[in-house]
Amino acid sequence: MTCDLQLGQRIWGASPISILEEMDMILTAFAIGVVGAFKFFEFANQSFISLQFPRLIEHAEIKPGHRVLDVATGIGEPAITAARVVGINGHVLATDISAQMLALAKQRATSLGFGDIIEFRESDAENLDLLNSSFDAALCRWGLMLLPNLDATISKIHNALKSGGRFAAAVWAAAPKVPIISLATGIIGKQVQMSAPPPEIPNPFSLADTNKLENSLAKAGFREMHVETVIVTFEFASGEDYCRYCQAASASARIALSKETEERKEDIWRQVAEEATRNYGTADGLIKMDNESICMVGTRTTR
Ligand SMILES: C[S@@+](CC[C@H](N)C(=O)[O-])C[C@H]1O[C@@H](n2cnc3c(N)ncnc32)[C@H](O)[C@@H]1O
Repeated sequence: MTCDLQLGQRIWGASPISILEEMDMILTAFAIGVVGAFKFFEFANQSFISLQFPRLIEHAEIKPGHRVLDVATGIGEPAITAARVVGINGHVLATDISAQMLALAKQRATSLGFGDIIEFRESDAENLDLLNSSFDAALCRWGLMLLPNLDATISKIHNALKSGGRFAAAVWAAAPKVPIISLATGIIGKQVQMSAPPPEIPNPFSLADTNKLENSLAKAGFREMHVETVIVTFEFASGEDYCRYCQAASASARIALSKETEERKEDIWRQVAEEATRNYGTADGLIKMDNESICMVGTRTTR
């Protein structure tokens, strides 16, 4: 939580810090958020795995016995889904910059019986030390948008793949198409008049314009590119339940509200719950939110 407050100070201009320090704080706050989201969904018995879309694994053409790389694995996805496919004769290297995320990922992998198939490695994606032509496939779900040096990472992934190996990545579409993130942050941002982050700070929507990722893949040498939209549906028991998820998962919401009174926070969250119910409420009283994710695939065609 400390990092949230420090970041809040930066947003309100109380203590200027460097972009690198700011990135570090955002990533830490973000990791806390993803762990919070994971715990929320586990509690609500709506596993993170069910939220994953199998298209990523299908597009990467992962087969039993394959060696697979997962970059920015977070709580272990899609590494664990890939491990189910590669089986005991295969291997998955799951990497992330956050020790906290990897600890949770390792715990999940072990409890699900994939401890011997998945190797976890703490590393900034940009500095990954990988043998040339050593993987049959590579994956990254909802991580590339957060990388400040996208080209360097994509080039490393390209070189680590064997010829014919595929890289399948998922990123988020533009904010209005991703209400799970943007509904609450939009209302809160307006209510507390928070300024938008500077464009050089990566955020969940940094790669909504697919040209940027497509160019980066092409520059690294990927060919036979394919882009498609995948709808990821999140369900909540009520508008209030969606608010509880945001309170657990959204670092930016916590930062933005950190200086508000309890009464004002309650009022803002009530507005979020009402808006969620108005726009995404179903006849049976649930909240059902469709979110657009972009799935991009490329193949290494050279040795
Ligand atoms: C939204 S989470 C996605 C996690 C997981 N792939 C999933 O789909 O559930 C983004 C992950 O990217 C990781 N990350 C952010 N910047 C990174 C970097 N420079 N290198 C490696 N991992 C990074 C974060 O720690 C976090 O676990």
